[in-house]
Amino acid sequence: MNVGVFGATGYAGRELVRILAVHPRARVAFTTGTGDGHLAHEGGLERKADAYFLSLPHGISATFAARLRVAHPSAVVVDLSGDLRLPTAAAYREWYGHDHPAPELLGQAPYGLTELYRDEIRSARLISNPGCYATSVLLPLIPLVRENLIDPDDVIVDAKSGTTGAGRAPREDLLFSEVADDFSAYAPGRAHRHVGEMEAAVREKTGRDLRLTFCPHLLPVRRGILSALYVKTDAGVDRLGAALAHAYEGSPFVRVVGPAPPRLSDVVHTNECRLSVHAAAPGRVVVFSALDNLVKGAAGQAVQNLNLALGLPEDAGLVRGRA
Ligand SMILES: NC(=O)c1ccc[n+]([C@@H]2O[C@H](COP(=O)([O-])OP(=O)(O)OC[C@H]3O[C@@H](n4cnc5c(N)ncnc54)[C@H](OP(=O)(O)O)[C@@H]3O)[C@@H](O)[C@H]2O)c1
Repeated sequence: MNVGVFGATGYAGRELVRILAVHPRARVAFTTGTGDGHLAHEGGLERKADAYFLSLPHGISATFAARLRVAHPSAVVVDLSGDLRLPTAAAYREWYGHDHPAPELLGQAPYGLTELYRDEIRSARLISNPGCYATSVLLPLIPLVRENLIDPDDVIVDAKSGTTGAGRAPREDLLFSEVADDFSAYAPGRAHRHVGEMEAAVREKTGRDLRLTFCPHLLPVRRGILSALYVKTDAGVDRLGAALAHAYEGSPFVRVVGPAPPRLSDVVHTNECRLSVHAAAPGRVVVFSALDNLVKGAAGQAVQNLNLALGLPEDAGLVRGRA
């Protein structure tokens, strides 16, 4: 399979190239970016390939998706940006603060949360890869809401991400001197864009409205996300743990662990998301979810989705978690 990678100079694009280099059935046909050895981003549109990854900023990515769909209609396009994750142009405007660049594509791309959208992804030619925080939260949350085990009106998520989550473009607040030996929250409450896609995905997969309080934090490490979900429930820890284990039986990249919560070092550089369930105050349970934002949260999940769409083994080219 010949695969083109748009945005290969970025963090997620670089990770895609790394994964594809050891993929048994895929070969990188071209990369785009500013610099030696890459095509200009526009130049990639002229190249014929079996599949394309778009690892470009939101607001730009969907314009490339629209042009690829016209130029190469039989190819699979996986968009890693947030452009195709929300159901309507109005929702996109609400969360991204500007008009959608290609509204005709909305509703055409299944949400690429692989384990929960396999059937939709298998037949898709355009796939919308989820956000990194959203992947870490939705993998535990959707099965628990679907099974009526937790109250979707009262979900609090406290999440921490390494700095690669913010991309490679220079920013003063991401300088080493600002981030090292420090720890801070940002976009608290309902300000982070991933809240919109998390609520949309829960509605789509369970028919329930989610009322989410989401507080992300910036960790002084390069990669990895650890999310803590505080959920209201009448069911005990054992039932919640069993429900998650059942939901991901046969899924190579989601594992329920315990008794210790998962650590970032268990999952970084792998495509695995690790979950654990713990008792909290009466009527509350805390669920931990750990993944690598650049792998299961971006490039790895994108390859997992491409594998399904091309009829390949879901785990082709991807690394499982450490034993
Ligand atoms: N980082 C993560 O953990 C993560 C996780 C999930 C999803 N994503 C999404 O994946 C996409 C890529 O993320 P990233 O973290 O890899 O970003 P990044 O490191 O900032 O890279 C951005 C890429 O887009 C290219 N680009 C094209 N037009 C651009 C423009 N006008 N302004 C800036 N860059 C432009 C850049 O190429 P040149 O600068 O070389 O031209 C670069 O290759 C984003 O949509 C992001 O939201 C990222």
